[in-house]
Amino acid sequence: MEINSLRESLKKSEKEYIWEDVPLAHIESEREYIWKDAPLERHNYGRIVERKKIRLWQIPPTTGAFLKWLIQLSKPKYVLEIGTGIGYSTLWMAEPLSHFDGTINTIEIFSPKIELARENFAKSKLKNIELLQGDAMIITQNYPKPVNLLFLDADKENYLCYLKNLEHNFTDGAIIVADNAVDCDYMMDDFLDYVENSKNYQSVILNLDKGLLLANYYHE
Ligand SMILES: C[S@@+](CC[C@H](N)C(=O)[O-])C[C@H]1O[C@@H](n2cnc3c(N)ncnc32)[C@H](O)[C@@H]1O
Repeated sequence: MEINSLRESLKKSEKEYIWEDVPLAHIESEREYIWKDAPLERHNYGRIVERKKIRLWQIPPTTGAFLKWLIQLSKPKYVLEIGTGIGYSTLWMAEPLSHFDGTINTIEIFSPKIELARENFAKSKLKNIELLQGDAMIITQNYPKPVNLLFLDADKENYLCYLKNLEHNFTDGAIIVADNAVDCDYMMDDFLDYVENSKNYQSVILNLDKGLLLANYYHE
């Protein structure tokens, strides 16, 4: 399927994918929805704390276009995305990457979304996407590849943990993009403080859509 039409159809169908009645009080029953090895204590797999519905929470198209532009400009070989959803943001990045042999690995924990993302990646015919199923908290602990560009768009309260787990994977000058740095800043105070105050990072907040933290990582 043509990539622009596929992306548009994913964005248009957003309202069809709302998982309701995921019981907040009965955490054991969540096990049927999440990756089997994920610990249950602390994940929210796409649910905003205190809200009951799980939605796609896809990036706006303008954020997608920004990511595409950034990739065309910086030409990263190895991109890692945390929070695939059903693949909308992944497709914004995978398509420009495919023009210079760049690859994207993307991590998702929520089983129904993993299935849909797989279907969408097959439809796109792009061959440079690897979907990693599971809890990013675990996967990032032993992530085997270098990272030239990291896109964070999963559980906001764990951004700092993901960043620290991946620091030894970052190449010099690696780019970090974190979504929701303005609308959900209160969920990632520790992450924002760390990046803004560490001498290894140069960062700026871009007030586009939900707010993007943009940073470069430099080895000492
Ligand atoms: C904002 S949505 C991602 C939307 C996607 N980036 C897009 O724009 O199309 C966040 C996703 O992160 C996933 N997620 C939340 N916690 C996670 C975790 N610990 N490990 C992996 N994925 C997680 C959720 O299931 C959800 O699909």
